[in-house]
Amino acid sequence: MATMDYISSKNIVLLTEDLLKLIDARLVKHGLKVGYVFYRLLEKKGGYEKFELAEWATLGTLHDIGAFETENTKDFKKYELKNVRPHSIYGFLFLKNLSPFGDRAKTLLYHHIDYKKMEGLDYAYRTEAEYLAFAEAFDVYRDMLEDRFSLDLMKQHVGTRYSPEAFKHFMELEETEHISEKIDDGSFYDELDHILNYVMFTNEEKENYLRLLMYCMGFASKTKVVDSVTSIFVCDELAERLGFDKDEKEKLYYGALLHDIGMLAIPRDIIESARKLTPEEFDMMKSHVQLSEDILANRMDEECLKIAVAHHERLDGSGYPRGMYEGELNQSQKVLQVADIVTGLTGERPHKAPCTKEQTIEILRKEEKGGRISKEVTDTLILSYDEIMRKAKMESEESLTLYKKMSKQFESVKAKL
Ligand SMILES: [Fe+2]
Ligand SMILES: [Fe+2]
Ligand SMILES: [Fe+2]
Repeated sequence: MATMDYISSKNIVLLTEDLLKLIDARLVKHGLKVGYVFYRLLEKKGGYEKFELAEWATLGTLHDIGAFETENTKDFKKYELKNVRPHSIYGFLFLKNLSPFGDRAKTLLYHHIDYKKMEGLDYAYRTEAEYLAFAEAFDVYRDMLEDRFSLDLMKQHVGTRYSPEAFKHFMELEETEHISEKIDDGSFYDELDHILNYVMFTNEEKENYLRLLMYCMGFASKTKVVDSVTSIFVCDELAERLGFDKDEKEKLYYGALLHDIGMLAIPRDIIESARKLTPEEFDMMKSHVQLSEDILANRMDEECLKIAVAHHERLDGSGYPRGMYEGELNQSQKVLQVADIVTGLTGERPHKAPCTKEQTIEILRKEEKGGRISKEVTDTLILSYDEIMRKAKMESEESLTLYKKMSKQFESVKAKL
């Protein structure tokens, strides 16, 4: 839908890393190291354009993304050494269904598979999968064994566990480029950062990827993803009726898509609490706006950012985090405020049934009369309530269907693997 000059391809990748760091910075760092080794190996092998290397590097950094769903990510040894399948499968499915990586996503499925077992595999990117598996093992063992680690240990398993070709390239790289040293002194970050300049997503791929970012919120709470989808489409319908131009609509779309992204850092039992939150917990909940701002700032278009972070502001200054007043808020920000409220009221919650249409309208009217939300936006919503909500709910149903589809796929891949 978008022309998408609102964020660069590289910033989308960096945003993903920043976002996942909110859950587990160590796991993200492991991802970056693996992504780096993986990309250097492929570069050494040769035959790739720079943008291809950049995309493989990106994929490599995300290789454990499934663990955010299937594991307590802090149990690093458990899923990286013992029970390696769940996160490999979910990571593959997550990227297959939500990212622009297409068939390449399958390399994640094989990142813990021995070289020998991959031999007969009919897969176009088998070599890349073998290289990724080598990069993964290198970093995991080096990280765990520390001083006791040596490449001789890995050498014993070349041809069985590890690809001889990947190992050979790695040894040469060690010799000439001192890969291990670069990892230890942190200079690999610069090289990784540099290659990411060559990521070139099409507009459609960018849109795809940003949707993936929204779905990452599901690692903390699926409800929040479903809610975000609802509010995107309420915004879209309102924008249409309020006569927004294409550019305004798109900015609102991406503002709405990312507005709650900071929720990823809030513990699930607080987000989905069925009881009343303590004041401290409520403050923690409120901090999601600042967290969203922190990670979106300098990466995302300023206008989109401003829309996203004003969704809990109210026209009478009673909102948060800034306590802004009507005069400081633009129409797009006001639209997302109303959309967010109506989404909350009509959504499924552990502590309450969804509000009926009558209840929702009554509450919205009260807010509007109290001078907290825009009269024009509220009127527009109420005037076409059924139509707007039907469409929005249909779209959010689709995200639930996607989750169901992924869990079905998970079971069937597990049975086959
Ligand atoms: Fe893994
Ligand atoms: Fe890993
Ligand atoms: Fe929020």
